Amino acid sequence: EDEAFLEAFQERIDREEKIEPNDPMPEGYRRTLVRQISQHAHSEIIGMQPEGNWITRAPSLKRKAALLAKVQDEGGHGLYLYAAAETLGVTREELVEQLLQGKAKYSSIFTYPTLSWADIGAIGWLVDGAAIMNQVPLCRCSFGPYARAMIRVCKEESFHQRQGYEIMLTLCNGTPEQKAMAQDALDRWWWPSLMMFGPHDSESQHGDQNMAWKIKRFTNDALRQKFVDATVPQAEFLGLKVPDPDLAWNEEKGGYDIGPIDWDEFRSVLKSGGFCGRDRIRNRRRAEEDGAWVREAAAAFAEKQATRQAD
Ligand code: 3HC
Repeated sequence: EDEAFLEAFQERIDREEKIEPNDPMPEGYRRTLVRQISQHAHSEIIGMQPEGNWITRAPSLKRKAALLAKVQDEGGHGLYLYAAAETLGVTREELVEQLLQGKAKYSSIFTYPTLSWADIGAIGWLVDGAAIMNQVPLCRCSFGPYARAMIRVCKEESFHQRQGYEIMLTLCNGTPEQKAMAQDALDRWWWPSLMMFGPHDSESQHGDQNMAWKIKRFTNDALRQKFVDATVPQAEFLGLKVPDPDLAWNEEKGGYDIGPIDWDEFRSVLKSGGFCGRDRIRNRRRAEEDGAWVREAAAAFAEKQATRQAD
């Protein structure tokens, strides 16, 4: 693409215009959006597994119903996002195949195991809390279909976060064993939740370009900081201790300082699939195989409908 084209495109971005699928766009803009939206979609779909793990073991019908609704929502978020990615010229089948072949990333947070019911509270509170921090700015993303998908997703995400926090509150107001379960879950989910925001800005491969193209409205570290500043007071209200000995309020910056994030763990989880990565993909492959007949039947029915209408 020549300089003039790139400049004209950047001017559209700077004028806060929405880019729509049929608009001329730099190949790099299209490619980074396919990359990010497909990984986002994969994350939503794979994220159904750790949470779904507790549907049959929820402690009450109320908790089971809320968790069922949440897992179903995540599936819907994945479908919106695959649909947004398809507007950029890729097919859902291609994207799913990349995931099943281990060629596509999804958020490392979903490779961690859900060991107790308190994990379901911690996931809603922390993981969906982090997702909201990241997804609200994406509602103003320069690419129309992605921004519009996020508006619907964010409405449902706030329910997810509230039901998670309410589970944590119930446990913290319960027996000492229940409170200990909540603390154990916070200890295991705190740092992987911070990793959801991506590497530090200095290490972020796509950050600068994605900020220039207004795909991202805030950098990885800026969103992480907002998340920490909003979440630490909630942990204090719960009477739980954030597992970071270096956590301290910094009056000058008006936010918390945190200790070092273990990027070796982050890189090794990305490389090896972490605790449950292999299971997650194996389960997803089985679901793909088990669901093949449904897709074939739906396609055959759609074809019959189309020929009937044509006659
Ligand atoms: N897990 C796995 N990969 C990660 C990651 C994480 N937590 N954080 C960063 N990465 C990857 C990036 O994808 C990139 O790899 P790639 O070049 O192969 O795509 C590499 O690490 C470098 O990171 P960058 O900062 O350069 O990448 P981005 O600019 O894309 O920033 C991001 C990473 C902040 C995750 C961004 O992609 C983003 O905002 N994505 C959309 C939101 C999203 O995907 N959230 C994931 C969870 S979805 C969720 O929680 C749903 C809720 O309902 C539970």
